Amino acid sequence: IMATRWGLCGAGKISHDFSVAMKTLPHENHQIAAIASRSLVRAKEFAKKHRIPTAYGRYEELAKNPDIDIVYLGVLHTEHWKVGLLFLEAGKNVLCEKPFAMNSKQVKDLVAAAKKNNVFLMEAIWSRCFPAHAEVRRLLAERALGEVKLVKAYFGSPQLHIPRSVQKELGGGALLDIGVYCLQFVLMVFDGERPQSIQATGVLLDSGVDESVTVVMKFSRNRMALCAFSIAVRLPNDAVISGTEGSIKVLGPMHCPTTLLVNDQETEYILPEPCLPLNFTNSTGLRYEAEEVRQCLLKGLKESPQMPLADSILLTEIMDEIRKQIGVVFSQDSQ
Ligand SMILES: NC(=O)c1ccc[n+]([C@@H]2O[C@H](COP(=O)([O-])OP(=O)(O)OC[C@H]3O[C@@H](n4cnc5c(N)ncnc54)[C@H](OP(=O)(O)O)[C@@H]3O)[C@@H](O)[C@H]2O)c1
Repeated sequence: IMATRWGLCGAGKISHDFSVAMKTLPHENHQIAAIASRSLVRAKEFAKKHRIPTAYGRYEELAKNPDIDIVYLGVLHTEHWKVGLLFLEAGKNVLCEKPFAMNSKQVKDLVAAAKKNNVFLMEAIWSRCFPAHAEVRRLLAERALGEVKLVKAYFGSPQLHIPRSVQKELGGGALLDIGVYCLQFVLMVFDGERPQSIQATGVLLDSGVDESVTVVMKFSRNRMALCAFSIAVRLPNDAVISGTEGSIKVLGPMHCPTTLLVNDQETEYILPEPCLPLNFTNSTGLRYEAEEVRQCLLKGLKESPQMPLADSILLTEIMDEIRKQIGVVFSQDSQ
């Protein structure tokens, strides 16, 4: 069996962390074959730092490289749609960073392009691929908690100093950047079921993007979810699943967890150490998502059972509805 040959698009912060995470996987399974940036200088620097053989100064050159198995899209949210379509139309498999795109219309365009070109596509909700979350899903599948009645997920991280978090033109706001993790957690627990109702309240920055949001959702059979997310303050960043016969607490950071409390019994899942400093928390855990993609490609799957495209579409539809209720509108909404 051959190594999976990755092409990275975007030489920014998350691409750096992804490259570091790759080094924790066997080289005979995963190789980064090329990096593309809008700037050739940045691509070359990145390639040197991470020992990547090929550097491109235009994304189109990566799209034309026939020796790439999958493109990892690590550019800003606002670029996912356009750049995603570039690779999908070139017949490339794509792992696209979260949020998948700016709204559900854009996400549906990406999904349609993947279907049309018969290629693999996945939203990079890396959380789903963590061993701790595999254990959560296993426990839920065997109904270890009885009937789940309430799911709570919090994510707050002070990042008002980061331009892409606060500027509307860069796709800012808590919802798209980190709220997406809380909502995907709820959908994971409720198995991709559409909520019966969504009630969101939010406060916005002067730029018009959301600073802090709370969301209450009701699901069938008297089940509920409560989410809070913020780019102004730190929150506990944990998630709790409460059932009639037990509970699971995913300790913070719930989006890349290493500790589970199942009925107060603690289990730890140790992450490998990074070979270079990381930009984000627990990023060597990106290895699980990379390996999930490899397994999907080896099986010839066009989407991941861990993060199916239907979940991504529902996730963005829920985010569209939340934005409608709290009054966040992006220019992409009227395109
Ligand atoms: N999974 C995770 O834990 C995680 C963590 C952080 C971020 N993310 C996601 O990853 C994506 C990138 O985040 P990041 O923090 O890595 O961002 P970043 O470093 O600020 O930017 C990433 C890349 O986006 C491109 N870019 C930046 N500004 C642009 C602009 N004004 N117009 C067009 N392209 C621009 C650049 O690509 P070039 O190199 O080609 O110029 C840049 O290298 C986001 O969608 C974010 O949600 C995921």
